[in-house]
Amino acid sequence: MKLLEGKKGLIFGALNDKSIAWKVAEAVCEQGAGIVLTNTPLALRMGETAALAEATGSPVIAADATSVQDLEALVDGTMAHFGGPFDFVLHAVGMSPNIRKGRPYEDPNYDFFMKTLDISALSLHKLLGTLYRKDALREWGSVVALTYIAADRVMPGYNDMADAKAMLQSVARNFGMVYGKSRHVRINTVSQSPTPTTAGSGIKGMDRMLGCADAYSPLGNATAEDCASLVTALFSDLTRKVTMQNIYNDGGFCAVLPNPMYDE
Ligand SMILES: NC(=O)c1ccc[n+]([C@@H]2O[C@H](COP(=O)([O-])OP(=O)(O)OC[C@H]3O[C@@H](n4cnc5c(N)ncnc54)[C@H](O)[C@@H]3O)[C@@H](O)[C@H]2O)c1
Repeated sequence: MKLLEGKKGLIFGALNDKSIAWKVAEAVCEQGAGIVLTNTPLALRMGETAALAEATGSPVIAADATSVQDLEALVDGTMAHFGGPFDFVLHAVGMSPNIRKGRPYEDPNYDFFMKTLDISALSLHKLLGTLYRKDALREWGSVVALTYIAADRVMPGYNDMADAKAMLQSVARNFGMVYGKSRHVRINTVSQSPTPTTAGSGIKGMDRMLGCADAYSPLGNATAEDCASLVTALFSDLTRKVTMQNIYNDGGFCAVLPNPMYDE
């Protein structure tokens, strides 16, 4: 029997075949799950989500993850498609207008900063609140959001996304308490290696960061496919008691103190 046979879930953030969410969508379908895909109307126009939808036989519902109204319609539409509550959700949503416009951390546009937090962190709270109010997740359901080590350690160039990821991880822990106690739903974040995607390539110094992380990780950087394998495990019944955790999928990078001696 496949790992996710009979399970149903909602996947945010598959823009193109480089997206981590794209690899997760493929992996969970391979393991027998049924999915609904979602992204913003603009991303659906500009990206390649329709091709993934066709390949996996999944419907696509447009939603801006910062709009509670959109999220309510999305959750209603997903439940209508599945005929009731579902089992898992991937939050793979992130964007910083300050990074896009080249504003440095010490001199941001604060309206942009609020947008970064809204899109990349508060959207998880809005999503979880919507799922909770609508009782849209089955008992022992699983929610995973993607994060980065710059939430815990300073990583120049990651800018206001570092603050957004710290908030995202906090939302996962705090909502994990509420959702775990009342409905046995688990909520975790996966802290992924730098990965060459559209969002990743917007970050200043990304190539050097990728090379440095790869060199210092004993196992090398985790790819988007590696991330998809871990997320599949977190959606499965094999991880029913794992919740409110930040799980590093980074080849061991987070445990290593960069030191010239390692180069010898
Ligand atoms: N690429 C990396 O190095 C890396 C490392 C660690 C964590 N992550 C995280 O992984 C997640 C997925 O990013 P990715 O690297 O696959 O890049 P990506 O560009 O393929 O995905 C980002 C997605 O966020 C979506 N998005 C942006 N604003 C949105 C909104 N308002 N509502 C709904 N969706 C919105 C985009 O349309 C896109 O599909 C992000 O949270 C990112 O921060 C990426």
